[in-house]
Amino acid sequence: MAAKVRANSRALATPTGSLPEPQPKQKEFLKTEADIAIYGGAAGSGKSLALLLDFAKPRLLENPNYGGVIFRRTYPEIKNEGGLWDESGLWYPGIGASANENRLTWNFPSGASIRFSHLQHEKDIYRWQGAQLERCGFDEITHFSKKMVFYLLTRMRSPHGVKPQLRGTCNPDAESWLAEVIDWWINPQGYPYPERSGKLRWFIVRNDELIWADSAEELRSRFPSSNPKSFTFISAKLTDNPALLEKDPNYLANLEAQDVVERARLLDGNWRVKKSESRLFKAAAIDASAHGAWVEPVFGRSYLVGIDPNFGGNDAFCCQVWDISNTPYQLVSEYSATNESITASITACSKLIEQYKPALVSVEVNGGGRTVQERLIEFHPGIRVEGVNTTKASKVINTDRIAIALEEGLIQFPPDWGGTDQLRAFSKETREAITGHDDSVMAWAVAFAYIEEARQLAMINPLLLS
Ligand SMILES: Nc1ncnc2c1ncn2[C@@H]1O[C@H](COP(=O)(O)OP(=O)(O)O)[C@@H](O)[C@H]1O
Ligand SMILES: [Mg+2]
Repeated sequence: MAAKVRANSRALATPTGSLPEPQPKQKEFLKTEADIAIYGGAAGSGKSLALLLDFAKPRLLENPNYGGVIFRRTYPEIKNEGGLWDESGLWYPGIGASANENRLTWNFPSGASIRFSHLQHEKDIYRWQGAQLERCGFDEITHFSKKMVFYLLTRMRSPHGVKPQLRGTCNPDAESWLAEVIDWWINPQGYPYPERSGKLRWFIVRNDELIWADSAEELRSRFPSSNPKSFTFISAKLTDNPALLEKDPNYLANLEAQDVVERARLLDGNWRVKKSESRLFKAAAIDASAHGAWVEPVFGRSYLVGIDPNFGGNDAFCCQVWDISNTPYQLVSEYSATNESITASITACSKLIEQYKPALVSVEVNGGGRTVQERLIEFHPGIRVEGVNTTKASKVINTDRIAIALEEGLIQFPPDWGGTDQLRAFSKETREAITGHDDSVMAWAVAFAYIEEARQLAMINPLLLS
């Protein structure tokens, strides 16, 4: 892919090229004055190149004393095809750099240099004990330990007028030390707050803990002799790097083919999905549930409706109609709306109830749900409308019930049903979707909280139905 740079090739006498124009998110990263700045949080967002551009900013390269160091965890990751050495070889010679391949160093005409190095083992940090690092970069910073990064931070100083700054790039990793450090920049669902990207906060380290504040003054007044450092996180995704999509149109398709957790992490930049977290619904059972033949009931049909009414926020207002005349129970209709008024959503549920005349309707009544239940009782006097008050404990029972039904092969989803991602992402520990939405799961669980009652009513109902 990249042109190989020969060891000790001579500097071009006059620079013949220029660095590529940074993309808008990379620009933000290049501009920030934070002592520590982290860029990325999704695959293919132009992270490595962002570091290379950042370290080669003209005002740095003009300084003959400037020496930047960019780390990867291992040496092969620097020297692999398409790695940092290759990628820098595409651009740096064009701005007058000569390579010293043995030292993995680019020397610039002013005397400035940019060097690559690896820090595989924790003890490797002590090689930098006496060093004066002006600018220190970590590509894939989550691959390094917190100790490595914070040790090198203490090595950073500059007698030459270059403000010491640490830069890092990363993909999201909910289990890494960085997830905790950037917590303020990440919303409860795991996605970066767009409005916080690039915002500065300050911290000091006390007993290995980071203490944060919105200003340096605040920390100095609380800890008079402290030296607060500014920190920022700039979030970027693949879509922020159109250059890659142009070069490699399959890159996106490859990411989209990953499982729900990898997609949430690498494509959507989710910082709270844990690879190790166990899922409530087994993948094989989910797959099987969408592939059975649609079953025709023997005695007419009977239905059960479940409603998880969410208003505003991330989750949708979700209403499901289940055919419970026979097993497998079949999901026959789903209404799901994120930005509808409560009245519009109640009307939609009402229409489904009119159409299917279910044996029972079950409504989650927390929040605004009580109103939904009351309206439906009022509109459908002949139909039993029950409320489910979800608590931590009842959520476990209600979601266990549907997970067991799924595993026993009692459930059938329409083949094109969009809710399977929510099932795949539903955590056994937290009983929430680790990627955010779980309204379909909850509507189902709310419905099946009354499956026994509905079945009993349905035993009578088919005879009454025309
Ligand atoms: N500003 C840019 N201009 C042109 N190409 C870019 C730019 N930023 C990134 N690229 C290209 O996009 C591809 C992916 O970038 P890279 O920095 O390797 O992403 P990441 O490290 O996030 O995987 C590389 O081929 C790189 O050269
Ligand atoms: Mg990279």
